[in-house]
Amino acid sequence: MNNKIPVSVLAATGSVGQRFISLLADHPWFEVVEITASDRSVGLRYEEACHWLLPQPMPEFVRKMVLLPTEAASLKKSAIAFSALPADIAKTVELDAAKAGIYVCSNASAYRKDPLVPILVPEANPDHIRILDVQQKEYGWRGGIITNPNCTTTGFVVPLTAIDRKFSVERAIVFSMQAISGAGYPGVASMDILDNVIPYIGGEEEKLEFEPAKIMGKFDGARIHQHPFKVSAHTNRVAVVDAHTICLSFELKEKGSVDALIDALESFEFSDLLKGLPSLPEKAIVYHREANRPQPRFDRNLYHGMASHVGRLRPCSIFDYRMVTLSHNTIKGAAGGSIVNAELLARTKFGK
Ligand SMILES: NC(=O)c1ccc[n+]([C@@H]2O[C@H](COP(=O)([O-])OP(=O)(O)OC[C@H]3O[C@@H](n4cnc5c(N)ncnc54)[C@H](OP(=O)(O)O)[C@@H]3O)[C@@H](O)[C@H]2O)c1
Repeated sequence: MNNKIPVSVLAATGSVGQRFISLLADHPWFEVVEITASDRSVGLRYEEACHWLLPQPMPEFVRKMVLLPTEAASLKKSAIAFSALPADIAKTVELDAAKAGIYVCSNASAYRKDPLVPILVPEANPDHIRILDVQQKEYGWRGGIITNPNCTTTGFVVPLTAIDRKFSVERAIVFSMQAISGAGYPGVASMDILDNVIPYIGGEEEKLEFEPAKIMGKFDGARIHQHPFKVSAHTNRVAVVDAHTICLSFELKEKGSVDALIDALESFEFSDLLKGLPSLPEKAIVYHREANRPQPRFDRNLYHGMASHVGRLRPCSIFDYRMVTLSHNTIKGAAGGSIVNAELLARTKFGK
C-alpha cells in the first residue's frame, strides 16, 4: 500500500521548482500529485512547458503531468504544498492554501516577516515548528505556512548559530558573492554578468539583516523573540552558476580561541527531533582546513548539496573573528531546505 503523503509543487517549472521535482522523485515519504505554474504553462505537459536546467534527467513521473493553475482550488489532493512562487503571487495563493487546510512549505519571502510564520532552518531552530499551532489558533487556518530563509541567509545562519550557542554573537558584517541561479531563470543576462561583479541585488541586504535574528530567536510557546544581534550586509552577484559564498566578520560576547570556535562548528549536532529525517545530510557543518576553501565548484555538491561549508576562521583586526561560508543556493538554500522542513512537519503532524 502506498502510504506516502500527497504533495504539490507550486511554480514547478522554475529554477527552484525543478529542484523540488528532482529531489522529490524518489522521496520515501512524499509523492508529487499536483504541479502548477503560470498562465503561460497551464494545460501543458511538464515536459512541454519546462526548460529543464539540471544535469540529472527530468524524472519520468513528471514528464506527462499536466500543469494546473496556481490557485488553492487546484490543490484537491495535496496535504503539503511546496511553493517556489514569486513573492507577490505567493502572498495570496499560500494564504488561501493554508486556510483550506494545506501546509505550505515556502521559498518565497511573502510571509517571512509575519510574526506567527517561522523561518525554519531545522539545524538551528527546529522548535519553531510548534508555532504552527499558534497560527491555527490565532489566524483560524486549518493548514499553515512555514518559510525557509533567503538562500544567502541559509549559508551563514547555521555556522553562526553553532558559534552563538557557545560564545553569543553580538554583531556581524557579511559580504556575499551570490550565484546567478539565485536570480531564477533566465535571471541575469550574460552580457551583464560575464567578466563582471554586480554590487547590488534588490531587497537582498534587508533580508540578510532581518532573517538571522528571527531564525536564531527564542520561541516561548506563543511568539518568536528576535535575537538581539545586529547584521550589516553587502550583497553582490558574481559569475558562478550555483552556490553562494559569504565572507563575514563577527563580534562575540564570550571570547574563545580559534580552535574552540572551530570545535563548536565541527561538533555541532542535529537535535534529536531531526534524527532519521530522510533528507538531512550526514553532517550539518563541514569545516574545511585548506587555506583556500570552501569554493563553489568543489564544495557545493558535497553531502548532496545540503551541508553548510565553512573555512578560513581566523582573528579579525576590527571584530573578533572572520570566516568564509558557502552553501548550495537552490538545494540547501531552497528546495532541499524546504523538503527537510516538510519532513520535520511530517514527523510532528503526520506521524512519520
Ligand atoms: N533561485 C534561488 O536560488 C532561490 C532560492 C531561495 C528562494 N528563491 C525564491 O523561490 C521563488 C522562485 O524562484 P526561482 O529562482 O525558481 O524563479 P524562476 O526560475 O524565475 O521561476 C519562476 C517560477 O514561477 C512561475 N510563475 C511566474 N509567474 C507566475 C504567476 N503569475 N503565477 C504562477 N506562477 C508563476 C514560473 O512559471 P512559468 O514557467 O509557467 O513561467 C516559474 O515556475 C522566488 O520567490 C525566489 O525568491 C529562489
